[in-house]
Order: sequence, then C-alpha cells, then structure tokens
Amino acid sequence: MGFVITVDGPAGAGKGTLARRLARHFGYAHLDTGKLYRVVGLAVLRGGGAPADPAAAERAARALDAGAIAAGALDEAELASERVAGAASKVSAVPGVRAALLDFQRNFAARPPDGAAGAVLDGRDAGTVVCPGAPAKLFLDASPDVRAARRHKELLARGEVSIYARVLADIRARDERDRNREVAPLRPAADACVIDTSDLDPDDVLARALAHIAGRTAS
Ligand code: DC
Repeated sequence: MGFVITVDGPAGAGKGTLARRLARHFGYAHLDTGKLYRVVGLAVLRGGGAPADPAAAERAARALDAGAIAAGALDEAELASERVAGAASKVSAVPGVRAALLDFQRNFAARPPDGAAGAVLDGRDAGTVVCPGAPAKLFLDASPDVRAARRHKELLARGEVSIYARVLADIRARDERDRNREVAPLRPAADACVIDTSDLDPDDVLARALAHIAGRTAS
C-alpha cells in the first residue's frame, strides 16, 4: 500500500483543486470520488428513473463502468452540471450505492494506477469510511456564501446559465443531505487537519496541507 492522502469536505470548499495539486506535487494518482456518484446519478437520470429511488440507484451503481471512468471516457460537462450534482447527492444516500462503490475506491488507494507511489482521494467520506487508516487527512470547509460564489463563477466560466441565489440554495440543500444522511455522513475524521478556506487562496491551502502532510508518515 502506498501513501494515501484523503481530502474531504462540502461542495465548493476547494477539495478538487487541492487534491489535484497534491497529486501533482507528490506524483501520486488522484481519484475524484464524487465523480463516481455523479456517474451513477447521471445513469439513473438517463434511464428515466428517480435518483432517490434506492432500487434504481443501486442498479446503476452495480453497472458502473469503472474502466470508462479511469479512461476519462465520460461527458465531463454534463457530469459537472448542477442537475447531475443533485442526482449524485441523492443516490449517494442509498447504502447499496455506497457499498457498490467502496471496493473500487479502496483498490485505487491500495494499488494506485500506473505504479504511482501513492494516491490522493477527494470526496465526503474518504478519510472516515473509505480509507480510515490513511496517514494524512485533510478536511476543507468554507462558508456557504463563499462556496456558492465559487461555484457560480465556475458555472459562468463554463458558459452555463447560473443564478447565484439558486446556486446557494442548491449548495445548502446538498449540505443538508450530505451531512445528515445515515450512511457515511459528511464530517471530518477525528485525526483530520481541518482548514477553513473562506479567506485563503489555493496557494495558502496547499501550503497548509503540505505542512500537515510533512508531519505524517505511513503506518
Ligand atoms: O464532490 P461532488 O460535488 O462531485 O459530489 C457530488 C455528490 O456525491 C455529493 O453531493 C455527495 C456525493 N458524494 C458522496 O456521497 N461521497 C463521496 N465520497 C463523494 C461524493
């Protein structure tokens, strides 16, 4: 097992940016675990089902083509949409969906692709459920307004129609679901380094994360 770094937190806290930068810094493989839930959510929508329907969600999770995800053979723009994010948040509350995606995530951490010496996993429960033994855990947070403003800017930059008040409402609804669900709710691991990114830029966040990681060694 290589060195594993987990980065958890709510939508818009800066997890993806930090995880990508850490992976580049150390030459590790990066897994955006939210993408797995988005793929499942999108599959349910495409099949005409309801994301909150446990049977439809679990069926989609079991049929997930992990190979296609690894190869990047996906419609990235559609996956990044708010519609798919909402569906992902709903399917992710279904215990059978989480169970179906667990092995893929753990295998990625234990045997990172392309012989990488370690892995960075970002998501909601990477440090609490997927890799509770990971030597370095980060938990990023920021105020809902800051996270909504970041998300709004990102959607506009992608040429999507975005209304700030709507994005804020979506973020709050997603937070509520992700933090209060029964299985693997969003929360920091007891040994996670918590960073509030509201007033920090990505360089500051990276510096703080690196300082935390420097003090940790694989057990
Ligand atoms: O990180 P993201 O916005 O791509 O995640 C989309 C949804 O997927 C999120 O609202 C909750 C769910 N998710 C999860 O339950 N567990 C993870 N490890 C990652 C994402």
